[in-house]
Amino acid sequence: MKKLTVAIDGPAGAGKSSAARLAAGKVQYLYIDTGAMYRAITWAILQHHVNVQDEAAVGALIQHLSVRLEPLSDTCRVYVNDTEVTEEIRTQAISSHVSSVAALAVVRQKLVQLQRDMAKQGGVILDGRDIGTVVLPDADIKIFLTASVHSRAKRRYLELQAKGNTETLEEIENSIAQRDYQDSHRAVSPLKQAADAMLLDNSELNLEETADVITKLIRQKAQ
Ligand code: CDP
Ligand code: CDP
Repeated sequence: MKKLTVAIDGPAGAGKSSAARLAAGKVQYLYIDTGAMYRAITWAILQHHVNVQDEAAVGALIQHLSVRLEPLSDTCRVYVNDTEVTEEIRTQAISSHVSSVAALAVVRQKLVQLQRDMAKQGGVILDGRDIGTVVLPDADIKIFLTASVHSRAKRRYLELQAKGNTETLEEIENSIAQRDYQDSHRAVSPLKQAADAMLLDNSELNLEETADVITKLIRQKAQ
């Protein structure tokens, strides 16, 4: 089987990470969570009290940072230099700042380079916002995964509730809608469907069914 590159983009809560991870396990591909990399940089910026709007200061800070993903069978550990931040990057504080950080060209330059390096061997599924448009414009398979904002918020709500989070469904829906707006309207690499990407609305599909669509496409194309 050929080792393909697979790009999955779409808005928050569409199921990109979960479906990509599940599909990658089934076809023994490496799953690369590019959103975790933007979250990791955001964690470092908050940790060092750097102003997110000050691009020069952010540039100076990230020069000395290494962001590393360590894929395991069913998860992916995230490190900033030698500190593991896998759990810390999922907090609401990070979620509410990450879109501003991801809008900075200096941040995108660094991470896009890293992502291309990680993808160059093939046999990879990357999920994010600009994978099919900017990071891997020649990806073998491109999927734009989406669902209604309400079903996405509900999924996130259930996920966060299971972790003991007390935010209401309405708060989560507002925060997701705001992040989608920021991600779609930024000047550099905005979230948008690549012209040659397949649109997959999974409002009515569960996780298994979503992952099955992806694995089927991979198996067909890899022959
Ligand atoms: O999982 P969730 O949809 O909440 O977000 P994520 O994939 O962890 O991404 C967090 C944020 O990183 C997004 O809202 C984008 O602002 C940014 N991001 C990006 O700009 N480009 C990517 N390739 C991946 C994420
Ligand atoms: O990565 P992204 O933000 O696109 O979404 P995710 O973090 O993979 O998925 C958000 C939540 O929705 C997770 O708890 C998934 O298990 C859940 N989900 C679902 O219930 N049904 C789907 N078809 C896809 C995801």
